[in-house]
Amino acid sequence: MSYIQLKTALPGPKGQAALERRKNALPAGLAKSTDIVVEKAEGALVWDIDGNQLLDFAGGIGMINVGHSNEYVVNAIKDQLDKYIHTCSLVTTIEPYLDLAELLNSLTPGNFPKKTLLANSGSEAVENAVNIAKYYTKRNAVLCFEGAYHGRTLLTLSLTSKYSLFKKGFGSYVSDIYRIPAPNTYRGINGLSEEEYIAFFIKKLEEAFISQVDPESLAAIIIEPVQGEGGFLPMPPAYLHKLREVCDRYGIVFIADEIQCGAGRTGKFFAVEHSGVVPDIIVSAKSIGAGMPISAVTGRAEIMDAPHLGGVGGTYGGSPVACVAAIEAIKIIKSTAFLQRVNEVGESIRKTLEGWKAKYPLIGDVRGIGAMRLIEFVKDRDTKEPDAELTLEIIKDAVAHGLLMIRAGLFSNCIRLLPPIVITDEQLTEGLQVLEDAIARAQEKRLVKAGH
Ligand SMILES: Cc1ncc(COP(=O)(O)O)c(C=O)c1O
Repeated sequence: MSYIQLKTALPGPKGQAALERRKNALPAGLAKSTDIVVEKAEGALVWDIDGNQLLDFAGGIGMINVGHSNEYVVNAIKDQLDKYIHTCSLVTTIEPYLDLAELLNSLTPGNFPKKTLLANSGSEAVENAVNIAKYYTKRNAVLCFEGAYHGRTLLTLSLTSKYSLFKKGFGSYVSDIYRIPAPNTYRGINGLSEEEYIAFFIKKLEEAFISQVDPESLAAIIIEPVQGEGGFLPMPPAYLHKLREVCDRYGIVFIADEIQCGAGRTGKFFAVEHSGVVPDIIVSAKSIGAGMPISAVTGRAEIMDAPHLGGVGGTYGGSPVACVAAIEAIKIIKSTAFLQRVNEVGESIRKTLEGWKAKYPLIGDVRGIGAMRLIEFVKDRDTKEPDAELTLEIIKDAVAHGLLMIRAGLFSNCIRLLPPIVITDEQLTEGLQVLEDAIARAQEKRLVKAGH
């Protein structure tokens, strides 16, 4: 049985009408990676309003690790709706907020007292994490990385690296932000061993303390343990250990942005756990809410307690409806069975992608960790010249055949795979086949164009 069932071309007539409404009602700058107009979604399946059944390899950009409309999450939300929707955590104390905070305080690495502040989006949580670090250290400067994505509010956009897609036209940005190159195993320095290569990036870090910023003026170093938008680049453990050492030496707050790579995606609850490094603050969002808008800043109690009374919080932060959803999602994600399934799904994708790399020269690299996997497309394997156009073409082709996909990478030349972890083996195989067919067609076209 095929899971993808197409009854119309995509988008169908109802979908086209809705997209017309979108064009007229929503700002042009609000991008979408597919033309799918959703009717309902369950597990790894999405139905559009024309009755087409599709497979989802985008997972709402990694926010649906436990699957669409997970029944435990849905039931918890329904139960909470019968009690109350929100009374505001700045006015009253909300028990689901306490439950979720205690859960995150116990789950995050580090054997020390912790506290959690809840917010509504990833950006809002990152913004709070940095502000809290500034307050605690009484310093202003922040160090971040090339390729990083931390959000679209003014502070987080200032931290975000990719210029043309996100930052163009929105300056001026927040001052006292310093950016250094992040290790990139594919686009690093050719001919170096892994050790030499990590040493190179550590040297870049040390040089930044001479050429860019006094380390004693840094409030925080913020890093994604696996870069998401930047192209699924796992930061080498030795590099993260170096950052930890630098933070300890100069009294800098180590912030791990786990918004995309956390929530079990890499096979451990938090990606940073692969390295054994313990951050001072961890920022979570996306899949901890299973689709509900919720984010969290969890950190050392003495850091989290630094701001004055009234210095943090917001009207909607810690909505009980979102909290109960997150509690259920987290309970599922932290289970051994779920994390084992992450590794099975990831291994199956890894093997398939490695096979494609051997077959299709337009693939420059395949990489990732756990079930956070990506394919990077190039014009030429030797020069590694990115091929963003071809990447978009492959995505469009796969979507037209019923597979929801999104791109990634500093050069927009990667396809990232973030299927819900509840995906079945059959669904995964079918989705990968659709993607391979699209890649094979693109390869064929390139050969024809080159006159072969
Ligand atoms: C690593 C990372 N940080 C921050 C954000 C921003 O989160 P949000 O879109 O919820 O504001 C994202 C979103 O993709 C992300 O991947």
